[in-house]
Amino acid sequence: MIDIFKLGFVEFDAKDMRAMSTYYSDTMGFTLTEYGPGGSAYFSSSTDHHNIVLTPSNESGIRSFGLQYKSDLGIEEVAEYLNLNFGITTELKTDVKPGIYQYLQFTDPEGYEVHLYPEMTMTNPGFKTKGILPNKLGHLSLRVKDAKKQVEFYKQLGFHNTDWIESFFGFMTCNYDHHVLNFFTSEHKGMHHIAFEMRNYSHLVEKLDFLRLNNKNLIWGPSRHGAGHNIACYHEDAEGNLIELFTDADIYIKELGIFEPRPWHKDFPQKPKVWSTDECLSLWGVDFEKALV
Ligand SMILES: [Fe+2]
Repeated sequence: MIDIFKLGFVEFDAKDMRAMSTYYSDTMGFTLTEYGPGGSAYFSSSTDHHNIVLTPSNESGIRSFGLQYKSDLGIEEVAEYLNLNFGITTELKTDVKPGIYQYLQFTDPEGYEVHLYPEMTMTNPGFKTKGILPNKLGHLSLRVKDAKKQVEFYKQLGFHNTDWIESFFGFMTCNYDHHVLNFFTSEHKGMHHIAFEMRNYSHLVEKLDFLRLNNKNLIWGPSRHGAGHNIACYHEDAEGNLIELFTDADIYIKELGIFEPRPWHKDFPQKPKVWSTDECLSLWGVDFEKALV
């Protein structure tokens, strides 16, 4: 058995390493921990060696993402377990990049490259004082051809399906956060957005001013979503990857199958459910930009 408990990092292809590095270093406030093979740059927003990786490329967009797990099994036994039980073929990688000595690489049913790893080198990023400085990398949203199939696949890996928007947008968690991954049915492949958790609403609003000072306009929000109830707003990084900053998201008590009660929940208890699109996107009535859907 394995217990996946965290979205550890997202790796981006970057056409303009300088512009992307400046965004993640100066605007987000992350610490450049190391350069890796091929000129990749590793950035940390926590005690992890890296949470964002930039790899030089002719393209932009997501390249891979990493999920950290805990297990009594050795990594080769985990590979065997995944293959025997779920037919997932993985490739063991050893000492090929900084920060993670060993990981299992596989491609999920929608063609996204996933790295499963038991350990990442801890680092002391020195916690900067300038930048957005979020608490953590919170979730990753991916466009997929078939969200239902993708949800079933990640259920096999121990993820819980917390909510749906109609039948096209499935939310999943591997810990107490409302969602860690979500899947958005689309004709296009690619990341929809990544999201960083802010400390609170004051922190979020303060950093919206900071974004404007760094010539970044908001695309949508802030407003409160339905599924997850997070107060969210969106902007783009230096290559158009959509970045959500959020706070106040639902906490899922998976042992009870409910979300911690909040004053704004209409349901008591609030349980995983299917939302309509209109009721879900903004509980504050903020119009949703077409660019986001
Ligand atoms: Fe999100």
